Amino acid sequence: MKKLIFVNLKMYLNTIKDIQNYIDNLKKEKDKIVIFPQAIYINEFIQNNFHTGTQNISAYEKGAHTGEISALSVKDIGAEYVLIGHSELREYENNKTINQKIKSALDNNLKVVLCIGENLESYNQNKTKEIIKNQIEKALEKINQEIIISYEPVWAIGTGLTPKEEEIKDIIDYIKNLFNYQIKVLYGGSVSEKNINKLKQIKNIDGFLIGSAAVNPNNLKKIIEVTQK
Ligand code: PGA
Repeated sequence: MKKLIFVNLKMYLNTIKDIQNYIDNLKKEKDKIVIFPQAIYINEFIQNNFHTGTQNISAYEKGAHTGEISALSVKDIGAEYVLIGHSELREYENNKTINQKIKSALDNNLKVVLCIGENLESYNQNKTKEIIKNQIEKALEKINQEIIISYEPVWAIGTGLTPKEEEIKDIIDYIKNLFNYQIKVLYGGSVSEKNINKLKQIKNIDGFLIGSAAVNPNNLKKIIEVTQK
């Protein structure tokens, strides 16, 4: 079955030249992926008809919030998605602001990808389910609309490490059972052209959120090829 491919470009590409090269290299694949670039480059992708989202949004819709990006403007410029709660941002936010961000995104008809995951200590203490249940409950307090979840163990992000396939499958089943609709759950954390053949065998995964491996368009193309069969 085909898998969703979401690309978190983080702050990896930092010149317009690099962005244009990236776009040129991936033009043929544009309908198979969703790109989350630095917000400053999102319009380049939209002009080239890519599906896009931002890596974060403000908890507020408008007003005196220097340096923030509102869900209203993200939608207005033509983006469709937003990542919320990524572990690289969680140190600057809390459950309340994550909940506000999700509400603001949904109010503005953006599709939310909520990132959740345990750190290494919690993983070693076998507390993964407890942690992610709490993250989900707090993030979605008083929210009933559908979202997408990306399960990303913090210790797997950018490290080359991944949980065992059966562990990922078990956690994804657990997440899906917490919802009363057929939620889409992605896996993220060191997904690459090297491990994608194995990871795509995990039946209950709906797709992948890919960071560092997707910065090289050729590696991303290999991942797309494997996951679209
Ligand atoms: P990674 O990042 O693929 O570089 O591990 C994934 C993510 O942070 O979403």
